[in-house]
Amino acid sequence: MENRNITTKITVCSYDELNEEEKKLIGAAKEATNRSYAPYSRFQVGAAALLAGDIVVSGSNQENAAYPSGTCAERTTLFYANSQYPDRAVKALAIAAQTGGEFIAHPTAPCGACRQVILETEERYKQPMRIYLYGTEEIFVVDSIRSLLPLCFGKNDLPEQAE
Ligand code: THU
Repeated sequence: MENRNITTKITVCSYDELNEEEKKLIGAAKEATNRSYAPYSRFQVGAAALLAGDIVVSGSNQENAAYPSGTCAERTTLFYANSQYPDRAVKALAIAAQTGGEFIAHPTAPCGACRQVILETEERYKQPMRIYLYGTEEIFVVDSIRSLLPLCFGKNDLPEQAE
């Protein structure tokens, strides 16, 4: 028997330490929280994706009275990006959330289903996606979803598919 440890790198920084492009992406995610439809959880999440060619698209969580029919901000955003710009890689994704009229102090991380969709997007475009998780007190940055989903199931686990 052996133990295997998986280490994961998460950079913690403050807003002031980000460059202008990063601040702009986080700004777009924060703005998107205002377009959330979250009457049930009252947790408004926004996401913004930076695509190749410097296009930014954003989305928010959209809830439903039949709870599982709703979707998270990350999936809204990535599916929108992929359907509008299927040929543009997603280079970065920022996520912000507010509740009770205030942005959260410590970052919230994507749910399992969103992590899986982010992984598929990285694999589809064959490049890692930098992810910014915004909080007013600290911001987490990871270089790839693999830092948040280290033991993952992806397309390489399936028999080879025709592209
Ligand atoms: N939610 C997101 O949109 N993204 C996350 O990363 C976590 C959770 C949404 C789903 C639901 O509308 C609400 O937040 C509460 O779970």
